[in-house]
Amino acid sequence: AKQLTVLGIESSCDDTAAAVVRHTPGSTPEILSQVVVSQDELHKNFGGVVPEIAARAHTEKLDFCVEDALTEAAINLPDLDAIAVTSGPGLIGGVLSGVMCAKGLSAAANKPLIGVNHLAGHALTPRLTNQIEFPYLMLLVSGGHCQFLIVHDVDRFQRLGGTIDDAPGEAFDKTARLLGLGQPGGPHVEAAALKGDPARFRFPRPLLDRPDCDMSFSGLKTALLRAREAILAKKGGLTRKDQADLAAGFQQAVTAVLLEKSRRALKIYLELNPVKPVFAVAGGVSANQDIRAALETVCAESGVGFIAPPLSLCTDNGAMIAWAGLERFQRGLIDDLSLSARPRWPL
Ligand code: KG4
Ligand code: ZN
Repeated sequence: AKQLTVLGIESSCDDTAAAVVRHTPGSTPEILSQVVVSQDELHKNFGGVVPEIAARAHTEKLDFCVEDALTEAAINLPDLDAIAVTSGPGLIGGVLSGVMCAKGLSAAANKPLIGVNHLAGHALTPRLTNQIEFPYLMLLVSGGHCQFLIVHDVDRFQRLGGTIDDAPGEAFDKTARLLGLGQPGGPHVEAAALKGDPARFRFPRPLLDRPDCDMSFSGLKTALLRAREAILAKKGGLTRKDQADLAAGFQQAVTAVLLEKSRRALKIYLELNPVKPVFAVAGGVSANQDIRAALETVCAESGVGFIAPPLSLCTDNGAMIAWAGLERFQRGLIDDLSLSARPRWPL
C-alpha cells in the first residue's frame, strides 16, 4: 500500500464541487482541499432546480472549481494518483459536464479515471471521517433521496427500503413554501418548529403499519396543505403561532417515521452480528437536530454507535467523490475513457 492522492469532481445536482483527498496507509485520510460553488441563487425563484440552468452553470464553474481545489491543496495534476468523478445518478447535463471535465484531465495528465456513483459517495463518507469497518448501516436522507443501506463493501450495498414517493428534504422545502418561509426549507422549518406545539396538529405517519423499511412523505405534504387551508378559511391568514405549530407537527411526523423505520432497519442489520455495529447518516436532512436526536436515541437503545459526519460532508461535495474514488482505486476498480454518464443508476 502506498500514499494515494485523488481529485474528486461532483456536479450531479445543484452544487459544483471539487476536492483533493489523500490517504497515507496507517494514518487517517486528509481532505487537502474542498471547493463547493452553490447554485441556490440561480434556482431560488423557480421553486426547484432547473436542469438546463444547472448544466450551464456547471460547465462554467467546473474548470475553476478544479483549479481552486488543486491550488488550495498545493497539488499539481502530475501529483495525483487518480481522477474520480460522479458519473450518475443525477441531472444528465450536470453529470455529463463533470464526466467530460474528468475525461479531459485524465487524458491530458495520463491519470486513471474512476466513475463514482453519487449515492456510493454519500454512503462511504463515514469511512472518510471515522474510519469505520464494513458492514455498517446507513440512512441517506436528503432533498432527493431517502433510503436505508447496509454498506457491505466499497461496491456492495444492500438496500433495505426507502421512500416510495418524495424525499423528506423535498417535504421540508414544500412545507417551508406553504408556510411562507425561506428556501432551502429545512433549516427554516426547524427553527419555526422550535417555537411550536407539535401536538396541535396530528399529521399522518404513513406505512408504519407495514413491517418493512419503506416510507412515504407525499401524504404529509397534502395533510399540511389541508391544515393550512382550514386555518386560512377561518382566519384569512397564518399567525406566527400557526406557522410554528404547523412546522412542529410536520417535523414531529417526519421524525417519528424515520425513527420507527430506523428501528426496523437496525434489527435487520444487527442480525448480521457486526463486530462493532454502527449506524451512520448522510444527506442535508441529517442536519436536523430533532431527527439526529431521535436516531441517536434508537442507536443508544440497541448499543449501536451513531455517526453523523460534519454537515459540509453530509451535503453534496467533492471530498466524498474523491474518497469513494480512492477506495475504488485501492481495489483496482478503475474506468477508462469509455466511462458513460448515467442519469439513473441504482446502487
Ligand atoms: O444533501 P442535500 O444538500 O442535497 C440533496 O438533496 O442532494 O440536501 C438538501 C436538503 C434540502 O431539501 C433541505 O431543505 C434539507 O436538505 N435540509 C434540512 C435541514 N437542512 C437542510 N431538512 C431538515 N432540517 C434541516 N435542518
Ligand atoms: Zn447528494
